[in-house]
Amino acid sequence: MERQTKYWIIRELDQKGQQAIEMAATLLKQQELIAFPTETVYGLGADATSEVAVAKIFAAKDRPADNPLIVHLADAEQIPNYVKQVTPIAKKLIHAFMPGPITVILPSSEAIAMNVTAGLNTVGIRIPDHPIARALLRAVNLPIAAPSANTSGRPSPTSAIHVFHDLNGKIAGIVDSAATEVGVESTVVDCTSDVPIILRPGGITREQIEDVTGVVTVDSTMDQQTDKPKAPGMKYTHYEPDMPLWLVDGTSDFFQQQVNRLSTQGLKVGVMGSEELISKLHVSNSSICGSKLNLDTIAVRLYDSLRSFKTNDTDIILGEVFPNEGIGQAIMNRLEKAASKIIKQS
Ligand code: TXA
Ligand code: MG
Repeated sequence: MERQTKYWIIRELDQKGQQAIEMAATLLKQQELIAFPTETVYGLGADATSEVAVAKIFAAKDRPADNPLIVHLADAEQIPNYVKQVTPIAKKLIHAFMPGPITVILPSSEAIAMNVTAGLNTVGIRIPDHPIARALLRAVNLPIAAPSANTSGRPSPTSAIHVFHDLNGKIAGIVDSAATEVGVESTVVDCTSDVPIILRPGGITREQIEDVTGVVTVDSTMDQQTDKPKAPGMKYTHYEPDMPLWLVDGTSDFFQQQVNRLSTQGLKVGVMGSEELISKLHVSNSSICGSKLNLDTIAVRLYDSLRSFKTNDTDIILGEVFPNEGIGQAIMNRLEKAASKIIKQS
């Protein structure tokens, strides 16, 4: 059902910005959906205590009902109100990284609506490090369930324009506050046992977590799609652009050969990669997503790059492979999910 989606542009928390926040908060209290910026990606928020409001998230995104949502709070002090227990591991991570791009999974309490956790007995909690997000969370004074504000299966939104493209007419409002800073989602960490388990790599790296907790496990189901994954969302197709994405793992000469080979077959090839790679290639259709020398810049532009190719001039995207370390783990996790094939140089 098409409806009017309100659109507020907020660049700072001046009086006008605060008024917009109040309007958005009022709609959230009325069980409506509001998209808002965080430091990672834009979220699609609903009152996490209301089953009716949360059901609207699944409908607007076309999200499978067994994929649980993360609950967002303004301040870490509120966490005990929404979980059964804050485990020692969680305490360490909360102290070290919140507010910030991390989500802790803890035993859930009855305060959260059933459909938020998709029937699991755990809940993901996150304190976003973004002034507009936290102002909105404070104004509404409710826990807010918020997945990324994209249609299910599409790249996550790192600007309000992406949200508008996917969800205009389906939600009550969009708070536009420029592009997000991190660009990939939060790291999801299961904190229910003695050793933290990374269920989804993200803005806080494994190395950073290790520095705080010593050992860290990475959920093996992240690579093996066969078992039931611990973060249910990881099993679905994700981050898909409008045309196939193939990753090319090799030198720039090898990359150029792949561009030439596919072009000869009559395909309109787009290339997505670092400025270092693209400056070496002869290709007319490309999207630079940052510098290989600073993977943070790649993370920031990754989803926008994936969304930038249009079907009228691109049949296939060839994407660069990045080092699987630091933020590169999150980048490669998303690229491998988005890609249908990897071409490796022998
Ligand atoms: O950065 C982020 O985390 C963004 C912003 C908006 O906060 N949110 C986000 O939400 O990425 P979403 O719904 O797109 O991804 C949440 C991930 C999914 O893979 C989901 O399965 C997992 O977290 N998850 C949520 N609750 C969980 C739980 N109780 N146990 C295991 N995994 C959970
Ligand atoms: Mg998502």
